[in-house]
Amino acid sequence: MAEKVMNAAGITELGFPMWPQFHPDTAKDIVEPIKSGKVNYWVGTKGMEFEEVFRKWTGAKMAISCTNGTAALHIGISCLGIGPGDEVIVPSYSFIASSFAVVQAGAIPVFCDVTDDHTIDPAKIEELITERTKGIVVVHLYGVVADMGPILEIAKKHNLKIIEDCAQSIGGKFGDTYVGLVGDVGCYSFCQSKQFTTGGEGGMVITNDEDLGWECRSFRDHGYDVRTRMNLLALEEKLPYIHRRVGFNYRMTEIQAIIGINEMKRYDDWNLARRYKYAAMYDKAFTGLEGIAKLPYNDEIRQNSYWWYPINIDLDVLSIDAPKFVKALQAKNIPCYGIQWPEAYEEAAYKEKYGFGTAHFPFWSKEYTNPESVEYDKVLCPNAKRLRSVTFSLFLHPTWEVEHIQACIDGVKAVISENKK
Ligand SMILES: Cc1ncc(COP(=O)(O)O)c(C=O)c1O
Repeated sequence: MAEKVMNAAGITELGFPMWPQFHPDTAKDIVEPIKSGKVNYWVGTKGMEFEEVFRKWTGAKMAISCTNGTAALHIGISCLGIGPGDEVIVPSYSFIASSFAVVQAGAIPVFCDVTDDHTIDPAKIEELITERTKGIVVVHLYGVVADMGPILEIAKKHNLKIIEDCAQSIGGKFGDTYVGLVGDVGCYSFCQSKQFTTGGEGGMVITNDEDLGWECRSFRDHGYDVRTRMNLLALEEKLPYIHRRVGFNYRMTEIQAIIGINEMKRYDDWNLARRYKYAAMYDKAFTGLEGIAKLPYNDEIRQNSYWWYPINIDLDVLSIDAPKFVKALQAKNIPCYGIQWPEAYEEAAYKEKYGFGTAHFPFWSKEYTNPESVEYDKVLCPNAKRLRSVTFSLFLHPTWEVEHIQACIDGVKAVISENKK
């Protein structure tokens, strides 16, 4: 059932409109590159147009589109100069890509606990810093903007880079600044389930550091020297040797870019606006309700973008924990989901140190890895573990109407009243 309600078809089966749904122009517009044959980033113009739309919207100096959010993280981390021999502090409570991207860069993830608002706990960061630490991955999970003030101070004090994982927070802001521009580099995902998708996969890197932005462009594009010669095709024709660094092919297709441009046309006024409206309905219904311990964090500084709506229940009041709460809601045909992956260090890849090649780099590397830092079987993030039993999420997809949100509210209230101690 949990899987069923996660995908669009499952939600439809429960009588809720599906998400994602695409901009009305998209089905027509994506036929153009098929007709013209201009389907690749360097042959068409839509990839660059999408980057410009996203750059202007966030106010970033540079925006670099890419294949997906994991690629965005790999690009951002690597282009900050983080790699073998380095450690990066990452919340254990996130999708696996937040920490795998660190490993993909050749560095070692060091797992940090979270607060009750599901984001990295600034009070737990400094104790994890070693002489190898180069950066912090901050994840704005569920759309909740992390507590960036103290994190910025710690980063400054210890000369650390901040990589913002904005995969779940398109439109989150810290004060007047869009997430992704608060730290050194911001990494977005436009995957299937996200606030909008560029056709199943997609990503974007943003930064205000132009040198870093150009490095990201090059890394995204086989290490081509895109800065000196923007037009790759011309560059290839004239020069035989054009690869200035080792890079990857993480380019987005033109069809993905067209879908993204169209979603951005309605992002603020429709997508985000409806998320805010539905979050306000949930807030009003649940604030002060017995059985509910915490609602998603939001204030004037840390402005939530409400990808999902995570709720912590109060086990002093209720006789069931969150996994049972989810089952009870699903039995009432209410789409919902349990907590998202609170303890990455429990994954076999970490516990068994299963890295690259027969050497299982970087985990077993004597030159580049402090053996103590990879004793993942000794890691414990107690609050992340505790949240397992109290957290579940409701959805607030923009395709839903008020009546769907009301059905979720009624479902939650019913489960609470049926399961009080
Ligand atoms: C927090 C977080 N980080 C990174 C990613 C990776 O993005 P993608 O699936 O586009 O590679 C996701 C996506 O699921 C995510 O939720």
